[in-house]
Amino acid sequence: MIISSANDYREAARRRLPPFLFHYIDGGAYAEHTLKRNVEDLSQIALRQRVLNDMSSLSLETEIFNEKLTLPVALSPVGLTGMYARRGEVQAAVAADKKGIPFTLSTVSVCPIEEVAPAIERPMWFQLYVLRDRGFMKNALERAKAAGCTTLVFTVDMPVPGARYRDAHSGMSGPNAAMRRYLQAMTHPHWALNVGLMGRPHDLGNISKYLGKPTGLEDYIGWLGSNFDPSISWKDLEWIRDFWDGPMVIKGILDPEDAKDAVRFGADGIVVSNHGGRQLDGVLSTTRALPAIADAVKGDLKILVDSGIRNGLDVVRMLAMGADLCMLGRAFVYALGAEGGAGVSNLLELIDKEMRVAMTLTGAKSIQDINQDCLVNLNRITA
Ligand code: GLV
Repeated sequence: MIISSANDYREAARRRLPPFLFHYIDGGAYAEHTLKRNVEDLSQIALRQRVLNDMSSLSLETEIFNEKLTLPVALSPVGLTGMYARRGEVQAAVAADKKGIPFTLSTVSVCPIEEVAPAIERPMWFQLYVLRDRGFMKNALERAKAAGCTTLVFTVDMPVPGARYRDAHSGMSGPNAAMRRYLQAMTHPHWALNVGLMGRPHDLGNISKYLGKPTGLEDYIGWLGSNFDPSISWKDLEWIRDFWDGPMVIKGILDPEDAKDAVRFGADGIVVSNHGGRQLDGVLSTTRALPAIADAVKGDLKILVDSGIRNGLDVVRMLAMGADLCMLGRAFVYALGAEGGAGVSNLLELIDKEMRVAMTLTGAKSIQDINQDCLVNLNRITA
């Protein structure tokens, strides 16, 4: 099929992947209102067209945490990425690396830290949850350090998991899930051969290494589910901040008061995020949350944002509303599921081109030039 956008990759991934995997990445929590609002609210931010400004030379380069990036974009941590293409985390990380942007490995990746980090030149970013098993957290941090990871992305919006209705219906969880997944694989032979068979082992690589035994999808739902820690508070993060000497980014901030707490805590950055609409349905879209957060903490730490970003125009919108960097989750996994690492590379090129058009027609010659002047004020959505 013809691919010209992340939405095309979504459709291509839908055709290629067994439904339990497509719906796991595509779906959100409860009635998916926040998931929809993330995309809709962002699309309604009106860019301000400016012309005749000699836009012949543009720079999309930026810097964050002492790293140079060719685009103000990083790949988000996504659990089970290795189920979407053969050794999928490695393929996605290599594509990001070739483009010159960071890849963030999820705690619950298929490929372990030790498999992905050496495959790329840039230092990998590593994501960690707060889990009851502090021994696992310490072990993961030590291994991430040893593998040369610099930036730690600490996810704090999962003290309890939000219910994902689609997972129960698709065979990701629910009755007879293993049998249903097996039948779905049989009717998706390209995936079954390339990933189902040749992409093994399908462990949760980081957790297997810690537990010293093979793990799989059941553990994803089981071990992780029983390990979320609802008692978590800022105090619990102190030992991690003291242990980790690289930049620490708190992911899952949606309120200016929490953003100010992150500054007080000494975080180097926050990810303004509602977990892609996968946690508390009904919360604000990141488009509506971001401006007030930027007003509260811009300049005190780096503001990263995710949830709803599907193209280069969206990246420009988010930067104009105060973000320093955008993170892509679903968009890259659709591309990976459809075409492997080549799909991710192509998606990043599409974003590059889309950003160039948006910058040319809003009169922004560099990333620093992208600010509120690139938006039509009347349509700036605020919380
Ligand atoms: C995990 O973080 C998920 O959103 O499924």
